[in-house]
Amino acid sequence: MRLRIQATSKPLAGRYCPPGDKSISHRVAILGGLARGTSVIEGFLEAADTRATLAAMASLGAEVTESEGRIRITGGRLEAGNRTLDLGNSGTGMRLLAGMLSGRPELIGHTLTLIGDESLSARPMDRIIRPLSEMGARIGSREGRAPLSIEPQALHGIRYAMPVASAQVKSALLLAGLVADGATVVVEPGPSRDHTERLLPAFGVDLLDGAPGVGVRGGAELRATELRVPGDLSSASFVMAAALMVPGSRVEVDNVGLNPTRDGVLRIIDAMGGRVERLSDETVGLEPVGRLAVHGEGLRGLEIPPAWVPLAIDEFPIVMAMAAAAEGETVIRGARELRVKESDRLAVMCEALAAVGVDVTETPDGAVIRGGRVRGGRVDSHGDHRIAMSMAVLGLVSEGDIVVERAQWIETSYPGFVDDMVALGADMQWEADDD
Ligand code: S3P
Repeated sequence: MRLRIQATSKPLAGRYCPPGDKSISHRVAILGGLARGTSVIEGFLEAADTRATLAAMASLGAEVTESEGRIRITGGRLEAGNRTLDLGNSGTGMRLLAGMLSGRPELIGHTLTLIGDESLSARPMDRIIRPLSEMGARIGSREGRAPLSIEPQALHGIRYAMPVASAQVKSALLLAGLVADGATVVVEPGPSRDHTERLLPAFGVDLLDGAPGVGVRGGAELRATELRVPGDLSSASFVMAAALMVPGSRVEVDNVGLNPTRDGVLRIIDAMGGRVERLSDETVGLEPVGRLAVHGEGLRGLEIPPAWVPLAIDEFPIVMAMAAAAEGETVIRGARELRVKESDRLAVMCEALAAVGVDVTETPDGAVIRGGRVRGGRVDSHGDHRIAMSMAVLGLVSEGDIVVERAQWIETSYPGFVDDMVALGADMQWEADDD
């Protein structure tokens, strides 16, 4: 399916509630499936990625029921047996499950095969295989990539200094550490999202302060809990960017997660001169959540400090779209990690921006974007949900239409994106691929 976007003639306006947080939903599916009793989760993200993780947990023996926007997961003991688990497009699902499964005592003697789609099968898995193997895990791969075949083993804790800040690697090790002998401590070179650390205590697991790292001791029994998943700031950032880019817009964003290890996009917007008011702040369960008002009053280019990159890692496609619409030059450096996401996001965004007439130069670890003029044209999502949504948002301020081919990949994280944008006044239509 392709998505056609017309420049919008009127400001965006209204109140908007983002879908549930993807990172938290993955973690809750896994922890809920491990915890004894029935966990009740409100706001779980209904999207392809998180459904894949939930289905994997169900296939491993967790009971999952859904009603009235809540899911109930009854867990406690995984069922023994050989299984193939398909994680589709989800790097988080595959890496976290690989960590969780590699030492499960009830699965020793069996083989779990983790598979994914073409994009996921090309992404690096050695970043988890190496430290998990140090803990005693046995994980076969195709030269460090999926499919992964995991033969669960008794593990021992390690202290691991991560070479790159990655919440997926950190979380994979902490999940493995839940059943390892002794303590597993992870030290990061810089902060990455800390949802796993916030959720583990909610499921009854004490964290170890391994300053400057964080850890767990093996053997804790997880207990079911009730919690509400906040709205996803990464998904909301597409709508926020649209409101910032279209002059005169005012959009209120309700119930959005404002975890400080995820808020790099807010810092970038602020440094671009974008106006985002914090109308309220509260803590829902273990996560900070707020209500924001976003105003379309213009954006200017900026040099993004490399230290902000991990705090906005998933928002770079939309930041690049904002930079294309902003006055002046934007410089991105220290963002090589973007090359191993659902697509090579530096290459793909630079190609897409150039295709719609933006003056952009790709660099080995970033890009230079000279904003101000977007002509319009046809681009391809490259199977990457965030590329599709970023280019769709840019279409709102383009001289001619932008058409995003293979835009159905938006389903990966945000199936309601087009409906939400249209409700706020955007002009976007799905078109069948008939030629
Ligand atoms: C995620 C961590 C990030 C992010 C991904 C979700 C998570 O990946 O890009 O979308 O939920 O832990 P890395 O840990 O590889 O940076």
